[in-house]
Amino acid sequence: MIHSAVLNVMIKAAHRAGRGLKRDLGEVEHLQVSLKGPRNFVTAADHRAEETVREELAKARPDYGFLGEEGGARAGADKSHRWIVDPLDGTTNFLHGIPHFAVSIALERDGAITAGIVYNPANEELFVAERGKGAYLNDKRIRVAARSRLGDAVVACGLPHYGRGDLALARHEIAAAQQNFAGLRRYGAATLDLAWVACGRLDAYWERDLAPWDLAAGSLLVREAGGFVSDCEGKGDIFKSGEVVAGNDTMHRELLRLLKEAGSEAGQAIIRETSAP
Ligand code: IPD
Ligand code: CA
Ligand code: CA
Repeated sequence: MIHSAVLNVMIKAAHRAGRGLKRDLGEVEHLQVSLKGPRNFVTAADHRAEETVREELAKARPDYGFLGEEGGARAGADKSHRWIVDPLDGTTNFLHGIPHFAVSIALERDGAITAGIVYNPANEELFVAERGKGAYLNDKRIRVAARSRLGDAVVACGLPHYGRGDLALARHEIAAAQQNFAGLRRYGAATLDLAWVACGRLDAYWERDLAPWDLAAGSLLVREAGGFVSDCEGKGDIFKSGEVVAGNDTMHRELLRLLKEAGSEAGQAIIRETSAP
């Protein structure tokens, strides 16, 4: 398949960083059983992967800005273009030797995402999309799932952990999902959750407290695969809120409805607790 020049640049960078991460995963597997554990090694691998991506992208487009999870924002001479990069999405999986993680690269032009790729080096699945040109998995066109019955749907979510996010709200949302969907999953790599909605493996996905590098490439994949993406209130600016709800037309709408109901139940529960004698 012939890709545009910019996609080729992004793919080359993801492949190079991915090769490094795949090698590092082997080392992580050894370190699991060592006393020291793999944490410091993984932090270094993460930084190395970002440097590799940055270097490779800068070779081809030296003037573009760069926003990476590890190095933060670097302005470029070209103020219209910016790369948004998560060099290792699914760090906790990687740290545990679980082969579900990805390199995510998006290109933003004047505030809009125009190209995005998500690459899982462990199984060599490469998801790519360009605005207006569709989404692909390893060069095959992908579409969001057509399912419309909640009872048939498999849905992924994020989970807040102790000290992070709204645990009470999450409990209500998860209970609603358990009561309505065929299956609920927590895979631990937001970029792949979105990519899996885009290719129809998942019917929908929602999560809160995400960063632009978790959302940029994956949200374009879903939209280019015919799906819908919004925040948890159905609004468009996912980058501002850090929330995402994704799915086909029906699943997206139904999931928004369930989240709204769960939100008001969580609110009522708090009122009951605080007004109890
Ligand atoms: C995390 C993963 C995870 C999501 C977290 C993200 P990281 O990114 O995408 O699935 O639940 O909120 O921060 O830290 O592995 O790059
Ligand atoms: Ca991430
Ligand atoms: Ca990361």
